[in-house]
Amino acid sequence: MEFNDRDIILQAKDVTKIFKTQNNKSLTACDKINIDLKRGRCFGIVGESGCGKSTFVRMVMNLENITSGSIIYKGQDISKFNKNEVWLNRKNIQMIFQDAMSAFNPKMKIIDILTEPLFNFGLLEKKFKYEKAKELLNMVELSEEYLESYPHNLSGGQLQRIGIARAISLEPEILICDEATSALDVSVQSSIIKLLRKLQRERNLSILFICHDLMLVKSFSQELAVMYLGNVVEVIDSEKMQEIALHPYTKALLNAVFTLNTFSENKVKLLSGEVPSHLDVPQGCPFVNRCEYAMEICKKEKPLLKEVAPDHKVACHLISRK
Ligand SMILES: Nc1ncnc2c1ncn2[C@@H]1O[C@H](COP(=O)(O)OP(=O)(O)O)[C@@H](O)[C@H]1O
Ligand SMILES: [Mg+2]
Repeated sequence: MEFNDRDIILQAKDVTKIFKTQNNKSLTACDKINIDLKRGRCFGIVGESGCGKSTFVRMVMNLENITSGSIIYKGQDISKFNKNEVWLNRKNIQMIFQDAMSAFNPKMKIIDILTEPLFNFGLLEKKFKYEKAKELLNMVELSEEYLESYPHNLSGGQLQRIGIARAISLEPEILICDEATSALDVSVQSSIIKLLRKLQRERNLSILFICHDLMLVKSFSQELAVMYLGNVVEVIDSEKMQEIALHPYTKALLNAVFTLNTFSENKVKLLSGEVPSHLDVPQGCPFVNRCEYAMEICKKEKPLLKEVAPDHKVACHLISRK
């Protein structure tokens, strides 16, 4: 299916976050991130822990101020919203977190947790509370017997279903999942993914799916961005990724995943070296000190994210040289 600009529901333009650390150093957690989320689709963001994924989505949720850049939702820059506008926009963009347990008030019953956002927005009358909560539980395939339970009575997977139901209750257009299944067992994880897929289809939800697990992001999203040390280094079609990946970091990630599962005779090229600190980002390409193809220019000049084919962007001097 072809998409045009009208179908982009959320657009991040040069989104940058610089934290000031305790000893007054600057830490660039996100460096000019550019991302387009298309309506009704799932866009994945993958990268090693600490690369800036959560900081990025926290800016999209207005939980963190943006240092520079813009985040456009339906023609409006939501990063410049005031408190009231931020609050109103919660209806449109909702998020589910990794740790559902800590996201809920342990003293509240499930029925109250589920209906709280609707009451906050004045979208539910008291007399319909029970009906609505039941409907929300059904939507996430949980029995209504849990309505009177407390969070500690439920398993991690069940709580994550409650988190999803609560987020979807406001009928948002965009759902952000930040490591939403990372704390769950593999079988529970796959049932949550199935549920998210179903809800996405039924409600034409647009999803930003953030996870450090490449295989999971790849299987759930249609398109994904690979992040490294605060930068997007490649934006790529998830399904064709193995065949068309160009950035040495993306290739190394793919290699690491696929060689574990096969008895390939190809020489395995796993990543060597450590990710540098955000406080000590190389001057040129952020990946330069781990890249086996690094050239002189890579040490001096930062490669920009450039389109190499429709819906395929890469930030690498090797590629832009061609
Ligand atoms: N409030 C903060 N103050 C200072 N540094 C932060 C803050 N939040 C995150 N960071 C730093 O920003 C970088 C990116 O973190 P994060 O966005 O959580 O990465 P990820 O979600 O990809 O694991 C890390 O180096 C982290 O230590
Ligand atoms: Mg994170």
